[in-house]
Amino acid sequence: MSLIEETAHALVPTKISDLPGPRGLPWLGNTLQVDRNRLHLQLEDWARQYGDAYTISILPRRFLVLSNPEAVASVLRDRPEGFRRSTRLEQVSTELGFLGLFSANGATWKRQRPMVLAGLDPSHIKAFFPTLIQVTERFAKRWRKAAQSGEAIDLQADLMRYTVDVTAALAFGEDINTIEAEHEQVIQQHLNQVLPALFKRVFSPFDSWKYFPTAADKAMPGHLRAIHQAVDGFIAKTARTLQEQPGLRERPANLIQAMMAARDREGSGITDADVSGNVLTMLLAGEDTTANTLAWLIWLLHRNPDARRQAAGEARALLAGATCPRNVEELGQLDLVEACAYEAMRLKPVAPLIVNEALKDTVVAGIEVPAGALIMCLMRPGAVDARNFPAPQQFDPARWTSGGGSVTQAMSSPKRVVMPFGAGPRICPGRYLALAEIKMVMAMLLANFEIADVFTEDGGDPQERISLTMYPVGLSMRLKLATT
Ligand code: HEM
Repeated sequence: MSLIEETAHALVPTKISDLPGPRGLPWLGNTLQVDRNRLHLQLEDWARQYGDAYTISILPRRFLVLSNPEAVASVLRDRPEGFRRSTRLEQVSTELGFLGLFSANGATWKRQRPMVLAGLDPSHIKAFFPTLIQVTERFAKRWRKAAQSGEAIDLQADLMRYTVDVTAALAFGEDINTIEAEHEQVIQQHLNQVLPALFKRVFSPFDSWKYFPTAADKAMPGHLRAIHQAVDGFIAKTARTLQEQPGLRERPANLIQAMMAARDREGSGITDADVSGNVLTMLLAGEDTTANTLAWLIWLLHRNPDARRQAAGEARALLAGATCPRNVEELGQLDLVEACAYEAMRLKPVAPLIVNEALKDTVVAGIEVPAGALIMCLMRPGAVDARNFPAPQQFDPARWTSGGGSVTQAMSSPKRVVMPFGAGPRICPGRYLALAEIKMVMAMLLANFEIADVFTEDGGDPQERISLTMYPVGLSMRLKLATT
């Protein structure tokens, strides 16, 4: 019986302070044992040592760390009433100027969520499909050039150009076209500095950037100014569009139009800060997550030729010479590609850790959780547990398609233990878009190219690093044009 099962059956709840955990130093706790860039790996190591409920303290905060999928799901579902995102995340995001849906809580979150959901729902993705094709064709052109010249592709950087272009087009109707830009575009250069800073500050024991600013801290206001200038540009342009086409106020074509129309309606409660916070949140939440998932998936397929051949067979038969899927119906027929994506997210979840703060005294899996307590939910241990999946470390997409059900049915089973997009009322609203992007890029890649090599500089497996999202370090790819 695991510790969670024992505590869940106990009559008297266990106190967090009575749980096991790594020994720390007086006052400093476990602070010096934690390498922030590998935080998730360290926490998973401790879960193997101390079980599925343990405690650590990172100055000045104590955390309950949970990895049992049922316990994790019960916390994630008990939002927004029982749990919220951490006060620290909200404070740091507000300071950096992007209090959007991801970091907001309470009334702010409640008024923002329906609008963001509506902007990213499947009907919007369907209406957006022609643009998705256009961006994917541009991306194919870029990779064709690389295949013809034999040049190595910086995988993560290229994938981020794709995801930023797609997100900006869907959420703001902006064609920022970083894919065809010779150099990294201004906005992207600055965006790439913000997420690591957010992650570092959230887990920093005190506001070190205020008292002992590093060179990166000193450069941050410049990055933020540049980003806010770009965001203000999107907002000003949308204001003009709404003025020229007032009908859009009732039937907005994208997220920014919906938010600005709401901001101007009396009593909506939507403010200027809500609009700009969410413009930035969309760019940040939509960029790394999908790009990193694609990078891991491409690496895993390179290492698993049988799965790759099968997925390529499916894509080639479906596309029949086209560069990418031509409509959502075709996208829906890529079952093997989708199964590969879920298998990659099972093994390499780009959000391996979700932090929650208790809003009131409660009990989780037999553990007493006082108001204000911080819970780190580890998302991977249950997904790689042999009790849930045989040969759990093996990349085997057939797990998602065997048994006759579709991947979607497998994912919506109440017993699911793989939660790459989280769970409950705060589940990722970008999941339909993310899956559409993943299937578009993979079908395009597998049908038009042969993956000649995917490699790191030192020839080894890519290391996992975390900076809000978890990414592979230094992956490059070489392509050849497909011969058939
Ligand atoms: C493979 C790609 C993606 C993954 C794995 C992913 C994963 C996640 C996870 C784990 C959460 C936290 C959920 C929770 O607390 O239960 C989240 C939240 C969120 N995601 Fe995603 N995401 C992806 C793509 C996207 C995209 C493309 C967008 C938008 C363009 C997006 C926007 C958001 C937002 C706004 C939230 C905050 C939701 C809330 O707190 O109410 N995500 N995502």
